[in-house]
Amino acid sequence: MRTHSCGELTLGDEGAEVTLSGWVDVRRDHGQLVFVDLRDRAGITQIVFNPERSAAAHQAAKDLRSEFVVTVHGAVTRRAEDMINSNLETCEVEVAADRLVVHSEARTPPFPIEDAVTTSEDLRLKYRYLDLRRKPMQANLQLRHRVMLTIRNYMDANGFLEVETPFLTRSTPEGARDYLVPSRLYNGQFYALPQSPQLFKQLLMVAGFEKYFQIVRCFRDEDLRADRQPEFTQLDVEMSFPDTDVLFSLMEGLMRDVFELRGIDVEIPFPRMSYREAMDRYGSDKPDTRFGVELDDFSAIFAEGGDSLFREMVGNGQTVRGLVAPVAYSRKTLDELDAFMKRLGGAGLAWVQVTGEAPRTLPVIRKAGPETIDRLIRETGARTGETVFMVAGERTPTLQRAGALRLELARREGWIPRDQWRFLWIVDFPLFDYDETDERWVSLHHPFTSPVGEDLARMETDPGNVRARAYDLVLNGVEIGGGSIRIHDSGVQAKVFRALGLDDDEAREKFGFFLEALEYGTQPHGGIALGLDRIVMLLAGGTSLRDVIAFPKTARAVDMMSASPSAVDETQLRELGIRVREEP
Ligand code: AMO
Repeated sequence: MRTHSCGELTLGDEGAEVTLSGWVDVRRDHGQLVFVDLRDRAGITQIVFNPERSAAAHQAAKDLRSEFVVTVHGAVTRRAEDMINSNLETCEVEVAADRLVVHSEARTPPFPIEDAVTTSEDLRLKYRYLDLRRKPMQANLQLRHRVMLTIRNYMDANGFLEVETPFLTRSTPEGARDYLVPSRLYNGQFYALPQSPQLFKQLLMVAGFEKYFQIVRCFRDEDLRADRQPEFTQLDVEMSFPDTDVLFSLMEGLMRDVFELRGIDVEIPFPRMSYREAMDRYGSDKPDTRFGVELDDFSAIFAEGGDSLFREMVGNGQTVRGLVAPVAYSRKTLDELDAFMKRLGGAGLAWVQVTGEAPRTLPVIRKAGPETIDRLIRETGARTGETVFMVAGERTPTLQRAGALRLELARREGWIPRDQWRFLWIVDFPLFDYDETDERWVSLHHPFTSPVGEDLARMETDPGNVRARAYDLVLNGVEIGGGSIRIHDSGVQAKVFRALGLDDDEAREKFGFFLEALEYGTQPHGGIALGLDRIVMLLAGGTSLRDVIAFPKTARAVDMMSASPSAVDETQLRELGIRVREEP
């Protein structure tokens, strides 16, 4: 059916008899001559139907429409100089057709199969198989394939073994909700789809595999965003007798190989920053370091200034953080930014604008007195035409809001340079985070993360200040990986469960098999998981994971094409011992 692909003919093939198969991309009927751009995975070749060469083929070509599937036989000819269409890879040649076979006609597609799209994403997802025919989508999935291949080769070359772990498992706490699968044989019991293979990879260490990896699907029922899918793929890694330096340089080398696929030269080693510093400077544990405009602490200025709301807040142990934007914002923009901050749950946004005359500000800041405002301007170095922004409140949420403001301003002002690849390790995370709603400590990473040895004693008395041997890998403000050195001692593991509010019986009920395994000679071990979809998305220059997943879900966790999730029939439910309640 084909001697060549549609992407490979060149002048060197001139005169050759060839057979090409593919989809009609475009047909142009010039009466005497009919031109068809024939498309397959490899590219597009122009076919010319000339009645002098074959009257039958020329006649049949008149009925071709976009997306018909055909085979064409003909001779490779040089294109007339003035006819060269430099948009095509095969621009110097065309195929003069002798024979045409139509395999399949096509309905008019619901949207044109073109590189640039204006169609709604829902429609594209409903007809995903047509959307995937578009060149950018083909390129993205080819890139994904090559990334996976590079990973497998690299991990293999470094002595790692790919081992599969089960999908029908018991729930592993990674912080999201589980997708549950009801058991038919044991009505009322459920498997959980893995949020990650965390426990299994640790058990593979106990089992003596020493170096494991897996390109593996994970399932998390969480609120979705552009960089989150309910099922996504990780490169999951675990190694024995680990050393963070060794693990970091292993991952850095891998990133260098992967980014080389796009001709990007990644500088290694990657810089490291502590969680605390990242929060203080960027208000985020995944800072985008492609631009400056770092955060500042204004607490002292207000604490020592006139009687103001901020002075009172700092007096109550709260903090005032902010940044200087080199922009003189209009009142309208300032109001928009204030609304943006309120949507994040803050009290709003305070600002001081440095003008040629007296600084402009809000009454709530003016109350701190002119000396305080002058000191703020002096110490921040804000110049005429610039704006100092401030937010106040409890430390962590205040830093997070200031960080979100920094990103929002960057988006509005176009501060983020393209074609920069800023990798960063974030280290020294706290082990626990306090959940205000549930009023209890939760793991910042997961409960199998090792505390820093010297902080162990603080576990019961001061859990908030126990550091974890955990790290994240960040690229351009996106968390592309996370991992830790694990607990390999069942006593320490039991302690962590206790700190999380799991009593010994509960811990044994849920993780008894795992705690027991740790008692049979467990070596120190640790690892990481990289978000494969996120890496390919960044590499492809995309902003949504949906661009690099063949059949993704929407932000509402729906597959538009097959319409899932869906109801199932009564028999199936009965077998599973499930009755659906009408009322929620
Ligand atoms: P973590 O939960 O940090 O770690 O996940 C690792 C990486 O997976 C990616 N990721 C996601 N990608 C797309 N959609 C999602 N919903 C999603 N959730 C996470 C991110 C993230 O950095 N078991 C640990 C790893 C370990 O400790 O070794 C884990 O899963 O890029």
